[in-house]
Amino acid sequence: MDFTADRLLLFGATGDLSQRMLLPSLCALDADELLHDDLKIIGTARSELSDAEFRNFAREALEKYLPASRRGGMADFLNRLSYQQLDATTLDGYTELAAKVGEPKQGLAIFLSTAPSLFGPTIKGLQHAGLDGEHVRMCLEKPLGTDLETSCEINDAVAAAFPEERIFRIDHYLGKETVQNLLALRFANLMFEPIWNSAHIDHVQITVAETVGLEGRVAFYDDAGALRDMVQNHMLQLLALVAMEPPVSFDSTAVRDEKVKVLRALRKVEKGETVTGQYRAGAIGGQAVPGYDEELGKDSDTETFVAIKGHVDNWRWKGVPFYLRTGKRLPERVTEIVVQFRCVPHSIFAGKGASMQPNRLVIGIQPEENITLSLMAKVPGLDREGIRLRQVPLDISMPDAFSGAVRRIAYERLLLDLIEGDQTLFVRRDEVEAQWHWIDAIRAEWSDEELKPKTYTAGSWGPSAAIALAERDGVSWHDE
Ligand code: BG6
Repeated sequence: MDFTADRLLLFGATGDLSQRMLLPSLCALDADELLHDDLKIIGTARSELSDAEFRNFAREALEKYLPASRRGGMADFLNRLSYQQLDATTLDGYTELAAKVGEPKQGLAIFLSTAPSLFGPTIKGLQHAGLDGEHVRMCLEKPLGTDLETSCEINDAVAAAFPEERIFRIDHYLGKETVQNLLALRFANLMFEPIWNSAHIDHVQITVAETVGLEGRVAFYDDAGALRDMVQNHMLQLLALVAMEPPVSFDSTAVRDEKVKVLRALRKVEKGETVTGQYRAGAIGGQAVPGYDEELGKDSDTETFVAIKGHVDNWRWKGVPFYLRTGKRLPERVTEIVVQFRCVPHSIFAGKGASMQPNRLVIGIQPEENITLSLMAKVPGLDREGIRLRQVPLDISMPDAFSGAVRRIAYERLLLDLIEGDQTLFVRRDEVEAQWHWIDAIRAEWSDEELKPKTYTAGSWGPSAAIALAERDGVSWHDE
């Protein structure tokens, strides 16, 4: 059913995500007049707060996390907010919560930003209070389980109350401008698609490097590790967008149908195709940082780094490795996709300095949003020993190309789509399950091998075995 929600109910409203991302994104959308005049936002969490206290909490969050230039009309935004205390595990409070939500004119969007263990009880409570009708959409924040089985349990619990077309699963990477731009690059330009295959592409690299460590999320992260925290969701979504067939339209079913085919074509990773690591004390940007076990306060075998050589077993990608790596406490924060093309089949240039390098397309997702195509060019000069060649970059910086465009938080796009009911940038159940299926097999392999993470110094690019993983195939990770 099509509707623009005029009520947004936010579970976990006093939590970290709400403070850092959700409230700032909503306020920024309001400042840009993208929220409907009638939209009311009801926050709920365990803490006892009055409406006024919640608004104060929100004001502080906005002042901390949203630049002043994007806070226009903050008082009006705060007036949209109200609050209802709730113990999500008991049915009692849900009727009162429903009264606070009131009767939406068009519809209600519910955002669950709580521990997944609360999803089941929350759904029951919402059903009990009648907050599950056709006018209600349900949005779920990660983590959606810890493996395929627990993910299916969550999906089943939600499906008991909401049909798939009203379930919105967040992967905030899909809200990033440059991630969406990947689709524009591939499908709004003629030149890439004919060469986007194993005949012309040697390999693909996807790197999500972070400089941060645990950031206080001790228990969560130590349970999850890099594979489940980053690869299961964000990195596999990036891989799916790089590898998918052209969808027939930019419509939620068409796009997600193509992504899930890629996820299902992921080959089971073999022994020796993954490397895990855990950081030890080191320095980043000249600043000393402690090791993982020191941050954690105990020994642990959780991986803070993982590198994988993956394969998509289909016609287009036969024999093209997809190297993935992600880690905490790496030397810089960078998310990028590198598409390494093959060499020209025959070089007409001979002589000194004529060595050929293959073309490379680098899609920078963050912090720099840019696209760089490396081309071979003649070095200017009257060389007698034959033409000299060098690789030169053809660079497009998105901020320069679209100067004046506001740099938005990924959640702005996603919250707006949730309110308006567009599922294209949300993850469908079959995608999540295909992702877990692949990840579970990797974890099973690790546990069979009793694999322990190798150590790496904070501020380095991970264990040397990760470099060797690519080097064995004659590949170097980009920019090392
Ligand atoms: C989250 C992970 O999903 O993504 C975090 O739980 C990680 O561990 C974060 O730091 C990275 O997001 P971004 O947008 O900063 O790249």
